[in-house]
Amino acid sequence: MAREFARVGVVGLGTMGAGIAEVFARSGLEVVAVEKDDESLARSRGYIEHSTTRAVRRGKLSSGDGAALLGRISYSLDLADLKEVDLVVEAVPERLDLKREVFGRLDAICGPDTILATNTSSLSVTEIAVATSRPGKVVGMHFFNPAPVMKLVELVSTVVSEPEVVADVEALAERVGKVGVAIGDKAGFIANLLLFGYLNHAAAMYESSFVTREDVDAAMRLGCGLPMGPLALLDLIGLDTAYEILDTMYRQTRDRLHAPTPILKQMVTAGLLGRKTGRGFYCYEAPGSPVLVADSATPPAEDAHAGARPVHRVGVVGSGTMATGIVEVFAKGGYEVRYVARGQTQVERVRAAIVRSMEKAVQRGKLDDADRDAALARISGSASLDDLADSDLVVEAVVEELTVKQALFANLDEIVRPGAVLATTTSSLPVIECAAATARARNVVGMHFFNPAQVMELVEVVSTVRTAPDTVATALAVCERLGKRAVTCADRAGFIVNALLFPYLNDAVKMLEAHYASADDIDAAMKVGCGYPMGPFELLDVVGLDIALAIQRTLYHEFREPGFAPAPLLEHLVTAGYLGRKSGKGFRDYTVR
Ligand SMILES: NC(=O)c1ccc[n+]([C@@H]2O[C@H](COP(=O)([O-])OP(=O)(O)OC[C@H]3O[C@@H](n4cnc5c(N)ncnc54)[C@H](O)[C@@H]3O)[C@@H](O)[C@H]2O)c1
Repeated sequence: MAREFARVGVVGLGTMGAGIAEVFARSGLEVVAVEKDDESLARSRGYIEHSTTRAVRRGKLSSGDGAALLGRISYSLDLADLKEVDLVVEAVPERLDLKREVFGRLDAICGPDTILATNTSSLSVTEIAVATSRPGKVVGMHFFNPAPVMKLVELVSTVVSEPEVVADVEALAERVGKVGVAIGDKAGFIANLLLFGYLNHAAAMYESSFVTREDVDAAMRLGCGLPMGPLALLDLIGLDTAYEILDTMYRQTRDRLHAPTPILKQMVTAGLLGRKTGRGFYCYEAPGSPVLVADSATPPAEDAHAGARPVHRVGVVGSGTMATGIVEVFAKGGYEVRYVARGQTQVERVRAAIVRSMEKAVQRGKLDDADRDAALARISGSASLDDLADSDLVVEAVVEELTVKQALFANLDEIVRPGAVLATTTSSLPVIECAAATARARNVVGMHFFNPAQVMELVEVVSTVRTAPDTVATALAVCERLGKRAVTCADRAGFIVNALLFPYLNDAVKMLEAHYASADDIDAAMKVGCGYPMGPFELLDVVGLDIALAIQRTLYHEFREPGFAPAPLLEHLVTAGYLGRKSGKGFRDYTVR
């Protein structure tokens, strides 16, 4: 029988502790909440009251239940008030010395059966446990931010944790409505080990001026369906906490990708800790507020497309999934579109696919008959590149092979009128290679659409070292007219989204390979803990393991970063022909239809 918990303690009521106290009180437990000084205590009490009032206002809690919740929390500045509790969750700042000191004191105060849990994100639970005389009763309970909302709790046991204690804590997590994932003691556990390398990488991209903060955040939200962009998430987590987590992970893994990127330290030193201080990567209305306010880095509202050239006629080359989607997007956006496929059969196939897709949109009420007819009337197909001569913009979406693309660009350069913009939608080849095949490199740009192009709002607009500003402005203006959110970046492998996404997927494979957690637990941790729409293994199986491996290899060859080397397990699965859904087997088995 699982142990009954009636009273629990929470120590440290900051970003996490306040939320954890709320979670317990909401489930009917008495909570003794301890802070270090009056000022912090008043602030935390304010957080909890504010959060509860908001839940009542939004109808998520009755006012009676809200009052009862608040009534179950008592506040204190003295750890001695935790003498009678069954379990304590510690959520003080991420410093080992501080946590060991708190645990040493708790050990002396609490009864011998009291379970002591740490909410550490990255520190060794074992090292914290051995600061007490009861290491068997010490575990990790790693909640996610915001604790009242996120359902995951990583339950960390050490080599000395007593199995009954772990079982009791698992039952408690379930009682308070959380999903517990049981794991061993390793810096970063599951979710943070996968998340923080990515967050650090995003911060480094921003630091190197490769991308703006707004663009990197929009790219990951719109390109991957993540609930928040990486820099907004770092602000939510707190830059001091993020720095400590990365630093601890780096010391344990010695993976350079975990070494905190310098800007984090600079911001922490300057007191720019994120939302909690009102300023981090972004500026907020007030400390603790989620409301953004404009600052000097906010992009000006005035015309971002100054110098854009007029575009009326658009050419699209290719007949695959991307080309078909792109033709449809341009036609719906009001452009005259001429597409070129290799032969008449392909020309007809593309048209039929577009007609089907638009028909579906009409049936779903997303397009009316008149708009569909008008869009279809704007589309014409041809088997000859010569028909693109009078285009203002040509977007190429042929097979992802450099020699094919280079030959095409050389042809287009001869055929298409001077001054027209030539764009490639490559996702992994250097845009400059296409540009260099022409005598008009200044007019060549990357326009990386996402699949399915009709649905995905994001377009990465990629400029090479030779792309002229008015070419970029033209691509941006076109994207705006198409209703797409364009982000700009330079011509580096993976651009923004793939460069951030694939190393994370690769890290997940390495974690599986190391037998730290199962594919199901890793997928659950990322979905339930971080709000990702799919877990890494689900996504890898959808993308195709061969594609993932090819992209990861490209990244590795471009950056020579040891941490980017493809996971051997990924290589082996591809060699064995386990490519994911398309082959019926990848990380999971599928029935091929
Ligand atoms: N921020 C996140 O997203 C997140 C997510 C999961 C876990 N964590 C972990 O939770 C822990 C707390 O992080 P946070 O982000 O809430 O930090 P925080 O800085 O927001 O809050 C820490 C709180 O502890 C209080 N405190 C400091 N020393 C104390 C003491 N001796 N006794 C009592 N209270 C004390 C501080 O006044 C502050 O209110 C860390 O271990 C962190 O790694 C953080």
